Amino acid sequence: MKIEELGFVQNYIRITHDAWLKGWHERNGGNFSYRIAEDEVVELKGLVNEDAQSQPIGVTVPNLANEYFLVTGSGKYLRNVIISPEENIGIAKIDEKGENYKVVWGLINGAKPTSEFPSHLMSHSIKKEVTGGKNRVILHSHTTNLIALTFVLPLDNIVFTRELWEMATECPVVFPSGVGIVPWMVPGGAAIAKATSELMKEYDVVLWAHHGTFVSGETLDLAFGLMDTAEKSAEILVKVLSMGGKKQTITADNFRQLGKAFNVNLPEKFLK
Ligand code: 13P
Ligand code: ZN
Repeated sequence: MKIEELGFVQNYIRITHDAWLKGWHERNGGNFSYRIAEDEVVELKGLVNEDAQSQPIGVTVPNLANEYFLVTGSGKYLRNVIISPEENIGIAKIDEKGENYKVVWGLINGAKPTSEFPSHLMSHSIKKEVTGGKNRVILHSHTTNLIALTFVLPLDNIVFTRELWEMATECPVVFPSGVGIVPWMVPGGAAIAKATSELMKEYDVVLWAHHGTFVSGETLDLAFGLMDTAEKSAEILVKVLSMGGKKQTITADNFRQLGKAFNVNLPEKFLK
């Protein structure tokens, strides 16, 4: 059995390709990580190189000690993952302190995990804590319409959430905790990782102004679906704004009814 043939790796590759087809991953744009489940780690036995060299993560994530992550490579094109997984993705194992990682499979020819690995891992760390270990996926995409809106709407969590919720009835059910915004920052380091993970305490969708979107989910499907739903809602909003703006919309009371009917808690701060 090769690593590329394992079910969860196949699923990760398929969803990476779907994300490319969506138009969210020009060139090397965006990156994707999955915290491998315990029963899947068992399947890796004998297939990974545990003697690989350690590298500093750049941030400390003690609750991710000894975890294994599937992750896309820095500078790698997501469209190429399906053609050559070993060159474009890898499995990184975190050390017992949560300070270093080693690439135990893939990312051949000297490739490294994404430059956003600190943001992914700090967000994984927070999500593991707040979801009791359920949440396993972080996806970062260069979503055209969500990015476009960061040039037009105020960079305010409440305004963004409410506008996106109004664009499709399913949105508040799919992201009931709303959308958090990181103002423009230099990508790829510890500072943006910290800002993102702070927002991940509350939100599953975090926008990086003028750059892209981070989402978090329990499964690969749920994370992909969340990105797709938020980006579609942004696309509708861009169209609505281009057609002269809203003439009617879903009201705060409609949202309260929806929350009741679907048994989801919609925070009142978004319904003013
Ligand atoms: P990587 O190629 O290092 O993953 O970077 C792409 C990106 O989207 C940076 O934010
Ligand atoms: Zn990016």
